[in-house]
Amino acid sequence: MITASSPLATRCSLSDPVISKALIIPAAGSGKRMQRDVPKPFIELVGQPILAHTIGRFLKLEGLNQIIVATSSQSISRTEGILQELIGGEISWSCVEGGTERQYSIQNALQAVADAQLVLVHDAVRPFVSLKSIKACCEAAEKTGAAVLGTPVKDTIKKIDKEHFVEETPDRRFLWQIQTPQVFKTGILQKAYHLADEQNYFGTDDASLVEWMGEPVQVVQGDRHNFKITYPQDLEYARALVKKREC
Ligand code: CTP
Ligand code: MG
Repeated sequence: MITASSPLATRCSLSDPVISKALIIPAAGSGKRMQRDVPKPFIELVGQPILAHTIGRFLKLEGLNQIIVATSSQSISRTEGILQELIGGEISWSCVEGGTERQYSIQNALQAVADAQLVLVHDAVRPFVSLKSIKACCEAAEKTGAAVLGTPVKDTIKKIDKEHFVEETPDRRFLWQIQTPQVFKTGILQKAYHLADEQNYFGTDDASLVEWMGEPVQVVQGDRHNFKITYPQDLEYARALVKKREC
Protein backbone atom coordinates (compact mmCIF):
# COMPACT_ATOMS: atom_id res chain seq x y z
CA MET A 1 0.00 0.00 0.00
CA ILE A 2 1.28 3.51 -0.79
CA THR A 3 0.76 6.01 1.98
CA ALA A 4 1.49 9.74 1.82
CA SER A 5 4.71 9.19 3.73
CA SER A 6 6.02 6.20 1.78
CA PRO A 7 9.04 6.74 -0.49
CA LEU A 8 7.00 5.70 -3.54
CA ALA A 9 4.40 8.37 -2.85
CA THR A 10 7.14 10.99 -2.54
CA ARG A 11 8.39 10.06 -5.97
CA CYS A 12 4.92 10.39 -7.60
CA SER A 13 5.19 14.01 -8.64
CA LEU A 14 2.12 13.94 -10.92
CA SER A 15 -0.24 14.49 -8.00
CA ASP A 16 2.04 16.94 -6.12
CA PRO A 17 0.37 20.32 -5.76
CA VAL A 18 2.16 23.18 -7.50
CA ILE A 19 3.81 25.52 -4.99
CA SER A 20 2.92 29.16 -5.68
CA LYS A 21 5.89 31.51 -5.98
CA ALA A 22 6.58 35.24 -6.10
CA LEU A 23 9.88 36.59 -7.40
CA ILE A 24 11.41 39.82 -6.07
CA ILE A 25 14.17 41.42 -8.16
CA PRO A 26 16.13 44.22 -6.48
CA ALA A 27 17.26 46.56 -9.27
CA ALA A 28 17.50 49.91 -7.50
CA GLY A 29 21.27 50.15 -7.00
CA SER A 30 23.38 52.82 -8.63
CA GLY A 31 26.28 50.52 -9.55
CA LYS A 32 29.13 52.55 -8.02
CA ARG A 33 31.72 49.85 -8.58
CA MET A 34 30.80 49.56 -12.27
CA GLN A 35 31.47 53.28 -12.82
CA ARG A 36 28.93 53.76 -15.64
CA ASP A 37 26.24 56.39 -16.14
CA VAL A 38 23.58 53.70 -16.59
CA PRO A 39 22.68 51.59 -13.53
CA LYS A 40 23.82 47.98 -13.96
CA PRO A 41 20.42 46.31 -14.61
CA PHE A 42 19.94 48.54 -17.69
CA ILE A 43 23.35 48.02 -19.29
CA GLU A 44 22.98 46.24 -22.65
CA LEU A 45 24.30 42.72 -22.79
CA VAL A 46 24.30 41.62 -26.43
CA GLY A 47 20.97 43.16 -27.47
CA GLN A 48 19.05 43.04 -24.19
CA PRO A 49 19.41 44.85 -20.87
CA ILE A 50 20.91 42.70 -18.10
CA LEU A 51 17.56 42.82 -16.25
CA ALA A 52 15.77 41.16 -19.19
CA HIS A 53 18.34 38.35 -19.36
CA THR A 54 17.92 37.79 -15.62
CA ILE A 55 14.12 37.69 -15.57
CA GLY A 56 14.13 35.41 -18.62
CA ARG A 57 15.84 32.75 -16.50
CA PHE A 58 12.74 32.43 -14.28
CA LEU A 59 9.91 32.46 -16.79
CA LYS A 60 9.69 28.66 -17.07
CA LEU A 61 9.61 28.13 -13.29
CA GLU A 62 6.52 26.15 -12.34
CA GLY A 63 4.17 28.00 -9.98
CA LEU A 64 5.69 31.44 -10.57
CA ASN A 65 2.75 33.81 -10.68
CA GLN A 66 4.14 37.16 -9.59
CA ILE A 67 7.27 39.22 -10.36
CA ILE A 68 8.04 42.43 -8.48
CA VAL A 69 10.98 44.62 -9.48
CA ALA A 70 12.28 47.28 -7.09
CA THR A 71 13.94 50.12 -8.94
CA SER A 72 14.75 53.81 -8.59
CA SER A 73 12.04 56.35 -9.40
CA GLN A 74 13.99 57.47 -12.51
CA SER A 75 14.02 53.89 -13.84
CA ILE A 76 10.41 52.86 -13.23
CA SER A 77 9.12 53.57 -16.74
CA ARG A 78 12.01 51.82 -18.52
CA THR A 79 11.58 48.85 -16.15
CA GLU A 80 7.88 48.68 -16.94
CA GLY A 81 8.73 48.68 -20.64
CA ILE A 82 11.09 45.73 -20.19
CA LEU A 83 8.57 43.75 -18.13
CA GLN A 84 5.71 44.41 -20.53
CA GLU A 85 7.71 43.12 -23.46
CA LEU A 86 9.05 40.08 -21.65
CA ILE A 87 6.28 38.67 -19.50
CA GLY A 88 3.13 36.99 -20.81
CA GLY A 89 -0.33 37.37 -19.28
CA GLU A 90 -0.11 34.38 -16.94
CA ILE A 91 2.40 36.06 -14.58
CA SER A 92 1.42 39.32 -12.90
CA TRP A 93 4.18 41.92 -12.61
CA SER A 94 4.73 45.27 -10.94
CA CYS A 95 7.45 47.83 -10.18
CA VAL A 96 7.96 49.39 -6.79
CA GLU A 97 10.33 52.12 -5.78
CA GLY A 98 13.51 50.82 -4.17
CA GLY A 99 15.35 52.33 -1.21
CA THR A 100 18.81 53.69 -0.47
CA GLU A 101 19.98 50.20 0.66
CA ARG A 102 19.21 46.82 -0.88
CA GLN A 103 17.43 45.81 2.35
CA TYR A 104 14.99 48.71 1.97
CA SER A 105 14.38 47.83 -1.67
CA ILE A 106 13.39 44.28 -0.69
CA GLN A 107 11.29 45.56 2.21
CA ASN A 108 9.24 47.72 -0.17
CA ALA A 109 8.85 44.91 -2.68
CA LEU A 110 7.73 42.43 -0.01
CA GLN A 111 4.70 44.59 0.67
CA ALA A 112 3.54 43.98 -2.88
CA VAL A 113 3.62 40.17 -2.59
CA ALA A 114 0.01 39.08 -3.14
CA ASP A 115 -0.32 35.45 -2.25
CA ALA A 116 2.55 33.01 -2.56
CA GLN A 117 3.85 30.07 -0.57
CA LEU A 118 7.47 30.85 -1.46
CA VAL A 119 9.22 34.15 -2.10
CA LEU A 120 12.39 34.11 -4.21
CA VAL A 121 14.77 37.06 -4.06
CA HIS A 122 17.24 37.34 -6.96
CA ASP A 123 19.67 40.14 -7.83
CA ALA A 124 18.89 41.88 -11.14
CA VAL A 125 22.57 41.55 -12.03
CA ARG A 126 22.96 37.76 -11.92
CA PRO A 127 21.78 36.86 -15.43
CA PHE A 128 23.37 33.40 -15.62
CA VAL A 129 21.50 31.49 -12.93
CA SER A 130 20.27 28.12 -14.22
CA LEU A 131 16.69 26.89 -13.94
CA LYS A 132 18.08 23.71 -12.40
CA SER A 133 19.67 25.68 -9.53
CA ILE A 134 16.54 27.80 -9.05
CA LYS A 135 14.42 24.64 -8.76
CA ALA A 136 16.86 22.98 -6.36
CA CYS A 137 16.81 26.04 -4.12
CA CYS A 138 12.99 26.17 -4.15
CA GLU A 139 12.76 22.48 -3.28
CA ALA A 140 15.09 22.96 -0.30
CA ALA A 141 13.17 26.03 0.93
CA GLU A 142 9.90 24.14 0.67
CA LYS A 143 11.31 21.58 3.10
CA THR A 144 13.37 23.75 5.45
CA GLY A 145 11.75 27.20 5.23
CA ALA A 146 14.82 29.03 3.91
CA ALA A 147 17.48 28.13 1.33
CA VAL A 148 20.14 30.02 -0.60
CA LEU A 149 22.48 29.12 -3.46
CA GLY A 150 26.22 29.13 -2.91
CA THR A 151 29.54 27.66 -3.97
CA PRO A 152 32.55 26.63 -1.88
CA VAL A 153 35.19 29.38 -1.79
CA LYS A 154 38.16 28.66 -4.05
CA ASP A 155 40.69 30.97 -2.40
CA THR A 156 41.94 30.87 1.15
CA ILE A 157 40.10 33.52 3.16
CA LYS A 158 41.85 35.53 5.86
CA LYS A 159 40.31 37.75 8.49
CA ILE A 160 42.49 40.83 8.92
CA ASP A 161 42.69 43.73 11.34
CA LYS A 162 42.68 47.46 10.55
CA GLU A 163 46.45 47.45 9.92
CA HIS A 164 46.05 44.53 7.50
CA PHE A 165 47.63 41.94 9.77
CA VAL A 166 46.09 38.50 9.69
CA GLU A 167 43.90 37.70 12.66
CA GLU A 168 42.63 34.34 11.57
CA THR A 169 42.56 31.85 8.68
CA PRO A 170 39.20 30.05 8.92
CA ASP A 171 38.99 26.45 7.70
CA ARG A 172 38.15 26.78 4.00
CA ARG A 173 36.04 23.61 3.98
CA PHE A 174 33.32 25.47 5.84
CA LEU A 175 33.39 28.72 3.86
CA TRP A 176 30.90 29.24 1.05
CA GLN A 177 30.24 32.20 -1.19
CA ILE A 178 26.56 32.99 -1.14
CA GLN A 179 24.57 33.90 -4.23
CA THR A 180 20.93 34.45 -5.08
CA PRO A 181 18.22 33.28 -5.43
CA GLN A 182 17.50 33.18 -1.73
CA VAL A 183 14.18 31.41 -1.24
CA PHE A 184 11.89 31.50 1.79
CA LYS A 185 8.49 30.47 2.98
CA THR A 186 6.64 33.76 2.67
CA GLY A 187 5.72 34.09 6.36
CA ILE A 188 9.34 33.58 7.47
CA LEU A 189 10.72 36.31 5.21
CA GLN A 190 7.91 38.73 6.08
CA LYS A 191 8.52 38.18 9.79
CA ALA A 192 12.29 38.66 9.40
CA TYR A 193 11.89 41.94 7.51
CA HIS A 194 9.24 43.18 9.93
CA LEU A 195 11.44 42.47 12.99
CA ALA A 196 14.57 43.90 11.35
CA ASP A 197 12.69 47.10 10.58
CA GLU A 198 11.28 47.30 14.10
CA GLN A 199 14.65 46.69 15.76
CA ASN A 200 16.79 48.53 13.24
CA TYR A 201 18.79 45.43 12.34
CA PHE A 202 20.82 45.54 9.19
CA GLY A 203 22.05 42.47 7.30
CA THR A 204 24.07 42.06 4.12
CA ASP A 205 21.65 39.61 2.51
CA ASP A 206 18.09 38.37 3.02
CA ALA A 207 19.13 35.14 4.69
CA SER A 208 21.10 36.99 7.36
CA LEU A 209 17.85 38.51 8.66
CA VAL A 210 16.33 35.04 8.92
CA GLU A 211 19.49 33.75 10.66
CA TRP A 212 19.31 36.68 13.08
CA MET A 213 15.79 35.49 14.05
CA GLY A 214 17.30 32.12 14.92
CA GLU A 215 15.77 30.22 11.98
CA PRO A 216 17.82 27.69 9.99
CA VAL A 217 18.97 28.52 6.47
CA GLN A 218 20.19 25.76 4.16
CA VAL A 219 22.88 26.35 1.54
CA VAL A 220 22.30 24.58 -1.77
CA GLN A 221 25.25 24.10 -4.11
CA GLY A 222 24.87 26.24 -7.25
CA ASP A 223 27.49 26.96 -9.90
CA ARG A 224 30.08 29.63 -10.60
CA HIS A 225 28.32 30.94 -13.71
CA ASN A 226 25.84 32.62 -11.36
CA PHE A 227 28.23 35.46 -10.57
CA LYS A 228 27.09 39.00 -9.80
CA ILE A 229 28.03 41.58 -12.43
CA THR A 230 29.83 44.05 -10.19
CA TYR A 231 33.03 45.39 -11.81
CA PRO A 232 33.81 46.32 -15.45
CA GLN A 233 35.75 43.03 -15.82
CA ASP A 234 32.58 41.08 -14.91
CA LEU A 235 30.76 42.80 -17.75
CA GLU A 236 33.43 41.79 -20.26
CA TYR A 237 33.20 38.19 -19.09
CA ALA A 238 29.37 38.30 -19.23
CA ARG A 239 29.46 39.57 -22.83
CA ALA A 240 31.83 36.78 -23.82
CA LEU A 241 29.59 34.16 -22.17
CA VAL A 242 26.42 35.38 -23.92
CA LYS A 243 28.18 35.52 -27.28
CA LYS A 244 29.47 31.99 -26.88
CA ARG A 245 26.04 30.93 -25.50
CA GLU A 246 27.90 28.96 -22.90
CA CYS A 247 25.30 29.20 -20.17
N1 CTP B 1 20.06 47.05 -5.11
C1 CTP B 1 18.79 47.59 -4.83
N2 CTP B 1 18.70 48.68 -3.99
C2 CTP B 1 19.79 49.24 -3.46
C3 CTP B 1 21.08 48.68 -3.72
C4 CTP B 1 21.17 47.57 -4.55
O1 CTP B 1 17.79 47.10 -5.31
N3 CTP B 1 19.66 50.32 -2.69
C5 CTP B 1 20.16 45.92 -6.05
C6 CTP B 1 21.09 46.20 -7.23
O2 CTP B 1 20.41 46.91 -8.27
C7 CTP B 1 21.53 44.82 -7.64
C8 CTP B 1 21.44 44.00 -6.35
O3 CTP B 1 20.73 44.80 -5.41
O4 CTP B 1 20.66 44.24 -8.60
C9 CTP B 1 22.85 43.65 -5.83
O5 CTP B 1 23.54 44.84 -5.47
P1 CTP B 1 24.96 45.30 -6.02
O6 CTP B 1 25.52 44.30 -6.95
O7 CTP B 1 25.75 45.77 -4.85
O8 CTP B 1 24.55 46.55 -6.95
P2 CTP B 1 24.76 48.09 -6.69
O9 CTP B 1 24.43 48.41 -5.28
O10 CTP B 1 24.00 48.79 -7.75
O11 CTP B 1 26.33 48.27 -6.97
P3 CTP B 1 27.43 48.99 -6.05
O12 CTP B 1 27.37 48.31 -4.70
O13 CTP B 1 28.70 48.80 -6.79
O14 CTP B 1 26.99 50.44 -5.96
MG1 MG C 1 25.62 47.53 -3.63
